[in-house]
Amino acid sequence: MGQVNRVVTVTINPAIDHTIAIPNFRAGEVNRVQFSQLDPGGKGINVASFLSDFGQPATVTGFLGADNDEIFRRFFAQKDIEDRCVRIAGQTRTGVKIMDEALRQTTDINFPGQTPSPADIDQLFGILRELAATHEWFVLAGSIPAGVSAGIYRDMVTLLAGKKVALDTSGEGLRQAIPAGPWLIKPNVHELAELVGEPLTTHADILKVARTLSERHGIHCVIVSMGKEGAIFVEGDEAIWAVPPPVEVKSTVGAGDSMVAGTVAGKMRGLSLAECARLATAFSMDRLTHLGAGLSSVAAVQSASERVTIRELSNTAI
Ligand SMILES: Nc1ncnc2c1ncn2[C@@H]1O[C@H](COP(=O)(O)OP(=O)(O)OP(=O)(O)O)[C@@H](O)[C@H]1O
Ligand SMILES: [Mg+2]
Repeated sequence: MGQVNRVVTVTINPAIDHTIAIPNFRAGEVNRVQFSQLDPGGKGINVASFLSDFGQPATVTGFLGADNDEIFRRFFAQKDIEDRCVRIAGQTRTGVKIMDEALRQTTDINFPGQTPSPADIDQLFGILRELAATHEWFVLAGSIPAGVSAGIYRDMVTLLAGKKVALDTSGEGLRQAIPAGPWLIKPNVHELAELVGEPLTTHADILKVARTLSERHGIHCVIVSMGKEGAIFVEGDEAIWAVPPPVEVKSTVGAGDSMVAGTVAGKMRGLSLAECARLATAFSMDRLTHLGAGLSSVAAVQSASERVTIRELSNTAI
């Protein structure tokens, strides 16, 4: 079978994001909603959405609640995203985000998700095996639903051995998957510190831990994101620090996902590590500076990329 130039993204714990705008939100009081909006969410689905907006078609798989998948079906059709998600009994959970532009803060209320059955999980692994025959790139992103083994990402990475697998998760799921050697990981600095059980306060600390992980487990590319401080991209002997300019943040939802999407898009186009770092950071800048799902436009990403500062980090110059 021929190779298909589509990225597969996997979301095992999706959510419907219910954004509710309430200026000066106060807990324990009556609050008036300015506007509200429902968006399909979940980290792998976000990555697929960014890629699709950038002209890079994606296939999504993972789990969706059968009872409320309409919003996802519409979204996938709109974005030319191929839907290979396993439908499970019940509803996809909702994540309520109370967005307060006056106080510049967001309050999250997360419902628990549905637990897929062992048969659902088998079905997903069957789909992954099938997709692996024709796809090179896989993005595994997000949390693990309650009741599912923390080893599920390890098992996926093992199944997809030899593929370009980007893993963006945290906690026990990340810890267990790392020895299986994903091709790329993108923890944020807090997730990385939790993983290694020590505070990471300097770039030198981060670089050392990233290099050790890469060498010990054969992880080709380690990206450590640091919020507005940018991100450190490590690959072999190379280390790049990409820093966004100060931007007016409208929403931080999906910052990390856009960075993963930008990196994959860059890698698929054969860009150097520095150029991938620039593109990934531009994706995140675009994500942060407008509301709503996805990228605003390819042109906006292009112009954002010109404002990213790229610094090479060497072992001595940090
Ligand atoms: N306040 C900010 N100002 C400018 N850029 C930012 C800001 N926050 C995040 N970014 C950009 O987004 C990238 C990823 O952000 P961050 O490190 O917060 O990811 P994350 O914690 O994995 O996010 P997520 O919650 O989406 O998983 C950063 O490396 C940076 O380029
Ligand atoms: Mg993240």
